[in-house]
Amino acid sequence: MEKQFKIAVIGLGYVGLPLGRLFATQYPVVGFDINQNRIEELNTGVDSTLEVEPEVLKPILTQENPFQADQNGLYCSYDINDIKDANVYIITVPTPVDKHNRPDLTPLYKASETVGKVLSKGDIVIYESTVYPGATEEECIPVLEKVSGMKFNEDFFAGYSPERINPGDKEHTVEKILKVTSGSTPEIGEIVDSLYRSVIIAGTHLAPTIKIAEAAKVIENSQRDINIAFVNELAKIFNLLEIDTHAVLKAAGTKWNFLPFKPGLVGGHCIGVDPYYLAQKAQENGYHPEIILAGRRLNDSMGQYVASQLVKTMIKKKLTINDAKVLNLGITFKENCPDVRNTKAVDVIRGLEDYALQVTTFDPWADPAEVKHEYGLTVVNEIPDEKFDAIILTVAHNEFMNLDLRKHLKEGGVIYDVKGILEECDSRL
Ligand SMILES: NC(=O)c1ccc[n+]([C@@H]2O[C@H](COP(=O)([O-])OP(=O)(O)OC[C@H]3O[C@@H](n4cnc5c(N)ncnc54)[C@H](O)[C@@H]3O)[C@@H](O)[C@H]2O)c1
Repeated sequence: MEKQFKIAVIGLGYVGLPLGRLFATQYPVVGFDINQNRIEELNTGVDSTLEVEPEVLKPILTQENPFQADQNGLYCSYDINDIKDANVYIITVPTPVDKHNRPDLTPLYKASETVGKVLSKGDIVIYESTVYPGATEEECIPVLEKVSGMKFNEDFFAGYSPERINPGDKEHTVEKILKVTSGSTPEIGEIVDSLYRSVIIAGTHLAPTIKIAEAAKVIENSQRDINIAFVNELAKIFNLLEIDTHAVLKAAGTKWNFLPFKPGLVGGHCIGVDPYYLAQKAQENGYHPEIILAGRRLNDSMGQYVASQLVKTMIKKKLTINDAKVLNLGITFKENCPDVRNTKAVDVIRGLEDYALQVTTFDPWADPAEVKHEYGLTVVNEIPDEKFDAIILTVAHNEFMNLDLRKHLKEGGVIYDVKGILEECDSRL
């Protein structure tokens, strides 16, 4: 493909926006999203995911479609007509699980339908969403073929390049993370790789096939899930033995090949979800994964476990549990990020409420309206001026590091540290 790349990014969320912004420094890019409100906020230079700062976003935005103007820059739109002149489509839509933890490919099918409607001869469609091995070729390509009426690997081509960004992490931004690439033929693999290599400073790794690239991504997150599940299990054992897990991990961590994982809640839409994609594919092929699903079960039990540990600590300090007031610090699924999707802090809160505790949640990052809408829970953006029987630190936002927690605690109250970051606490995971 000798022609200049004209890129359409489909789905402008945590993954799509930073990627579209990066490509727009060197290519004409149209960012497409079905969420009209999202497009409208982006067009004013505001990114509510806080991944791209206004001073970075605003200068790259164009007032008119850059394909027509033949200029570099990012144009955000919810109009399908704006992407029809692209020759590279990059799909970055969500890949959630349903209520039975089965992969829900609906956004991928829908995005593929959209692209199928505007696909032209010679175009390349690159998927970035996390999937199980085989999903691109077995699930998405047939939709593209059907809707476009064109033939795969003759009329149009595909690639897969998984995203590795870590929301809230301002150090490992998209261009600084080595990127795995792949293509539906060896030649297309080279083109896809050269496209990413032109913007990713950290370089690329061209995988031999799309399936290998898909599998690589899903095992990266599954490995992390299993490693955290192991230390979560250790935390449960050491709590029974009344040994400080963090001190044990610190001591063991002095060995050169001991992996530095910490116990905690595994939420969000990546690590807590992606292993189910791999498990589903394994099951479809007659293998019932043991370690992968055991890890998921263990990690999913941690919210309730944390709640019971806090209550035990309170009982040991002879505090009355019924109607006791607890200040919970943090509700987002991870630190320094406003994302509340699939957050396990909610399991902690619900676990505490099951014990008839009254929980007030303070989170300076979360959008209270979104939390109300998603979970029916109230979040405050400032700590109320009252004293609590217990304080639990659930998320390690930077803002929590310098809080004088004793100021908000009743005499004899309990501080519980889920993240193991507080200098002073009564108990921790
Ligand atoms: N967020 C992360 O940390 C991260 C990291 C690596 C990989 N991933 C993977 O990347 C993918 C995207 O994740 P995300 O966090 O950016 O999701 P997100 O929810 O933040 O963004 C997805 C965007 O896609 C839009 N969208 C949904 N359906 C669409 C459609 N049919 N057409 C156009 N737009 C559509 C949504 O409106 C939303 O703005 C997922 O597969 C995820 O697993 C995410």
